[in-house]
Amino acid sequence: MSKIQKIKGVADLFPPDSTKFAVLEGTAREVFSRYGYDEVRIPIIEKTELFSRSIGEETDVVQKEMYTFPDRKGRSLTLRPEATAGLIRAYIENKLYTPGKVTKVFTFGPMFRYERPQKGRMRQFHQLDVELIGANEPQADAELVLMLATYLRELGMRQLTFEVNSLGCRECRPVHRAALNDFFKNLAGFDELCDDCTRRAESNPLRVLDCKVERCRELTKDAPNIEDHLCDGCRTSYEEVLKILDSAGVDYVKTPRLVRGLDYYVGLTFEVTSTDIGAQTAVAGGGRYDGLIKQLGGADVPATGFAIGMERLALLTPDTAPAKTDFFIAVLCEAAPSPALQLAQTLREAGLRGETGFDSGSMKSRMRAADKSGARFCLLLGDEELAGDTLTVKNLETGEQASIARAEAIDFLKKD
Ligand code: HAM
Repeated sequence: MSKIQKIKGVADLFPPDSTKFAVLEGTAREVFSRYGYDEVRIPIIEKTELFSRSIGEETDVVQKEMYTFPDRKGRSLTLRPEATAGLIRAYIENKLYTPGKVTKVFTFGPMFRYERPQKGRMRQFHQLDVELIGANEPQADAELVLMLATYLRELGMRQLTFEVNSLGCRECRPVHRAALNDFFKNLAGFDELCDDCTRRAESNPLRVLDCKVERCRELTKDAPNIEDHLCDGCRTSYEEVLKILDSAGVDYVKTPRLVRGLDYYVGLTFEVTSTDIGAQTAVAGGGRYDGLIKQLGGADVPATGFAIGMERLALLTPDTAPAKTDFFIAVLCEAAPSPALQLAQTLREAGLRGETGFDSGSMKSRMRAADKSGARFCLLLGDEELAGDTLTVKNLETGEQASIARAEAIDFLKKD
């Protein structure tokens, strides 16, 4: 029979990668709880309309990258390409809105985008997604960025760049949009823009600034800058966030072309980038999305958030040797396997970590298994040990051997 292989762009995760994911998640739980965040879980599958209405019809994600299919009753469903839309749907549906209350949540999980796979870019990838709902003050934006910086610092990541921008609000965005429309109307090489940009120049000109095609980027390098069009409110708020980052010692680079790939952003946007993970440099990205909750049928509640790409963060995490376990029990006679398992159970119930060898192969192969097990001690259980309720303990680092009473095993292993 032919073997079935995984589909393109997905990965099986085994140690050390799965261990790295566990560390990234554990550190997130620990750090985020200090800032008052709760972990939540939401579905991987949602109605397609949720994503087209929130991420935006004109985005690459909605136009080219979604895994969309009809279910058995013909309803259009989509495997989530990101978590924000689903979290906001859940926030509205579960009536989590309370006036004056800020909701802080995070979630981990797989996301799906039909992109061309390469290093750091998968069709099934994992995000750590964080949302702060119910505050529009610059201090909320700043706290969010500081939390991300703290998390990355506690993971030991230092060679990262924080890129920041402000995309303006309902007041200043139309002014910038009009300036962009004018720019495209008068652009000499307009015909050389790619098909997407030609269409978007009219319908959603900000998206043109996000195009990855080299020629489009060249042609639009002098496009009007959003920063020159910010209203007083947006400018003051942006400056306040930057001031807080300055005083907290978070370095950043102002990046006026940072428009992000999703349409729901307004105000502060940011990305964390690294030059050490290949062509896909964005490790994390996020920003404010004040209109989204209303747009999805909820109250007019402001919100901000970010998501980290776990695969990209794992690429930046060095491999570490697995921690040593406490014991490996080698069975040396036919009567030993069951007592060995009972002993292992007693030791594990006492909080010790280790394995018992089930096999009854040669003495040499059992000792080889002990050496390979990554344990500190091998506990040998043969006829003599069974008869005397003893154990022979061998220190696998020094090779030293001693005999102890079996009842002393827990104390012995804990002492060392
Ligand atoms: P995003 O920038 O589309 O934002 O994705 C966030 C991160 O997910 C990226 O910076 C990257 O590390 C990772 N990522 C995206 N696509 C892939 C891929 N194909 N393979 C591997 N990693 C990938 C969002 O998704 C927003 N929902 C973030 C947000 C939350 N904004 C506000 N709240």
